[in-house]
Amino acid sequence: MRLFGDGRAALAGDPVMAERLGWGVRKRSSGGAEIVLAPVDGDPRAEPWIARGRVAPGGGVAVLWEGGGKDWTYLRDAPGVPRYLRRMAEPARGRSFTVGISGLGRVGGLAASALAACAGSGIGTLLIHDCDGGNLERMVQELGSVARWRAGSRLPQVEAAGLGEMMRRCDAFLFAAASAVPPLGTEGEVRLTQFGPNRECLKGALEAANAEGFAGLFLMVSDPVEVLAQTAFHDSNAPEGAWLGTGLAPERVGGLALGVMWGRAMAAAEAAGQGERVARRGVPYGPHSTEVLVYDDPAGPDPALCEAMTRAARTGNYRVRDLGFLPYIGPALSSIVLTLPRLLAGREVLASSFVDGVYFGSPCRLRWGLGPTRRRLAPEVKRQVEELHLLLQDRMARLGLSWR
Ligand SMILES: NC(=O)c1ccc[n+]([C@@H]2O[C@H](COP(=O)([O-])OP(=O)(O)OC[C@H]3O[C@@H](n4cnc5c(N)ncnc54)[C@H](O)[C@@H]3O)[C@@H](O)[C@H]2O)c1
Repeated sequence: MRLFGDGRAALAGDPVMAERLGWGVRKRSSGGAEIVLAPVDGDPRAEPWIARGRVAPGGGVAVLWEGGGKDWTYLRDAPGVPRYLRRMAEPARGRSFTVGISGLGRVGGLAASALAACAGSGIGTLLIHDCDGGNLERMVQELGSVARWRAGSRLPQVEAAGLGEMMRRCDAFLFAAASAVPPLGTEGEVRLTQFGPNRECLKGALEAANAEGFAGLFLMVSDPVEVLAQTAFHDSNAPEGAWLGTGLAPERVGGLALGVMWGRAMAAAEAAGQGERVARRGVPYGPHSTEVLVYDDPAGPDPALCEAMTRAARTGNYRVRDLGFLPYIGPALSSIVLTLPRLLAGREVLASSFVDGVYFGSPCRLRWGLGPTRRRLAPEVKRQVEELHLLLQDRMARLGLSWR
């Protein structure tokens, strides 16, 4: 089989794509490719464009417990795939990532502050952005005055940047902007109601990503997290409503929010004297919403403890709100600061990734795209997780955000 391309990644037997990319037959002097990708036919609206161990759409959440091949493939007919193949062929980034955060309010501002004070996180540069120029300048001044006395490893370099510059330079871009966080005293739903206004806020970032051919990770922090991650995939690929497929690859979009759900559930496990065991075996699944499910042990769950942990995860934000404060400290620290460096390093984290056409929270790992890691699940756990996934597939379809 002829290989094309002289970079870290090469294509196997696809002269048509090689010509589109301007890649010739691989030279002997380039040595063996680290990643060899084979073309496959598939549906770019419903599955990752580039995958290791491809799972065809239609299998639902079974990917959470079965499958897992090793071969690399790409969808030959995904219009947006060339820019990602080019990115894969570049030399590995090493351990000095550039991260961008747009939206420096309570959540984004605290996350940026904590990351700016973290040495050894793997983040070399932190680019920050906010639509409020005064707030941005304040954060530049504040984070510019974070320093350590005669310490060896350097803290991240913090710089203000526009969205275009972020899309040119970032390995990972975090969207934490919001225009309508429901105020204290709001009864009922406080996340889904942000969908319309936050979709508007997101437009500028998606336009910049498409204009710059962004091939980094696009990570959603703002609520409703999974719906907005779905929106990022949908709207970047169908800016006028009809599918073009030239936007963000679904596996390079993710949601960062399950970390705090797990933190709230762990507090309940510790209160029950089960912290150590649950920290080793427990797992949450699903969205950053009152529908999340938490298990003390998915292979053999204790129903009473699962119920207590799930309730804690579902209601933790309301408990802080009832005290007269908007919750953001646990979220910024658990969902972002304690998650992002591990994610960039390729270690398992809690995040939402594209699972059979919709974003769904689970233990995940970044291989190239973000995808779930597998666990052994008891039959009743599989059933509950499947039901939740179907509910989310229906919701995304009703919102006009999927092509099912
Ligand atoms: N992922 C999680 O774990 C988690 C947890 C709690 C809250 N949240 C969500 O995070 C979001 C942010 O919450 P917050 O409390 O920080 O809100 P906030 O109101 O304190 O901050 C929002 C910031 O976004 C900025 N902004 C608004 N529109 C913008 C745009 N178009 N471009 C750039 N910046 C823009 C504002 O100037 C402000 O600084 C909300 O949607 C909230 O519900 C997520």
